[in-house]
Amino acid sequence: MHPSFSFILRLALTSVIAACALFGTTTLHADNEPTLTLSLPNQEQKLARSNLLRHTATHTITVPDDQAYKRTMTYQAIPFAAIVRDMRHIDTLQFTSADGFVANIPGELFRSASEPWIAIEPAGRPWPALSSDSLRSAGAFYLVWLTPEKSGVKAEQWPFQIISIRNVEALTVRYPQLLPRTEGQDEDAQAAVQRGMQQFVMQCASCHRLNGGGDADVGPDLNLPFSPTEYFQEAYLRKLIRHPAAVRNWPQARMPAFGEAVISDNELDDLLTYLQQMARQRDRGRSTHRDATITQE
Ligand code: HEC
Repeated sequence: MHPSFSFILRLALTSVIAACALFGTTTLHADNEPTLTLSLPNQEQKLARSNLLRHTATHTITVPDDQAYKRTMTYQAIPFAAIVRDMRHIDTLQFTSADGFVANIPGELFRSASEPWIAIEPAGRPWPALSSDSLRSAGAFYLVWLTPEKSGVKAEQWPFQIISIRNVEALTVRYPQLLPRTEGQDEDAQAAVQRGMQQFVMQCASCHRLNGGGDADVGPDLNLPFSPTEYFQEAYLRKLIRHPAAVRNWPQARMPAFGEAVISDNELDDLLTYLQQMARQRDRGRSTHRDATITQE
């Protein structure tokens, strides 16, 4: 999805690993085997790739509508329920990827009928590279869904290159600065802003913060110091979200395109309503902010 970034990060990681080895503090498995770290209620575990591949629940599965590769794929995979002992008390699962991408996925999606599996890349048979300018595949661990349409699983909910999975509180509980203050607005307007916030959490927060709140830092903050709803004309902002390269294009760009299959026109309206609301409420508290000297029309 953002190959050049992951490449740079890979170089960075390689030096960290080298440094760890130097100081003898490496936490990697003895033979540098990839591991998946789980931090869940009553379950702190590091799962090694070879153990997962040998697990009795691991099977060959076919994923008809694979999001990372955009085609039908076949994997060695283990049902998500076979590695997580108890899904009942899980609020949100946070998937962290080697390239800085952080997906917060509601626990209820894992209790739904969409059939989550963790695909495991075998050591000797690597998966294809994600794109022509990236050397990396989606492995070693990749979350796939067999029937995503059953509960509306989004493209941003297929994290790849997963290094850890932890149970966290919902993003908006951990970062109240993401919450809109819509008291006094009519019910329809409030509902639209709430739906827009859900879109932000599901589709954008895996890379962007807002008001400094969020887990990822892959793209710029979407409200500080200014909101893109303020410095982009609306038509171009819509175009940018639908197809970033149609507005600005350079080789290192990493923002993915969000077509209508991923965000419908109505959902995009809601998302912009949320971003506009967040820009308005920030301005009310802005008088002491150093950017307040910029005059707005
Ligand atoms: C996979 C990571 C990723 C996701 C998901 C993502 N973005 Fe981005 N976005 C970026 C990056 C990185 C940039 C910086 C430009 C670039 O590299 O393409 C960016 C740039 C932008 C910009 C331009 C900001 C500026 O000031 O130049 C806007 C607006 C934006 N994103 C909105 C969104 C919205 C809205 C969503 C959710 C629908 C979203 N992004 C989802 C990574 C992402």
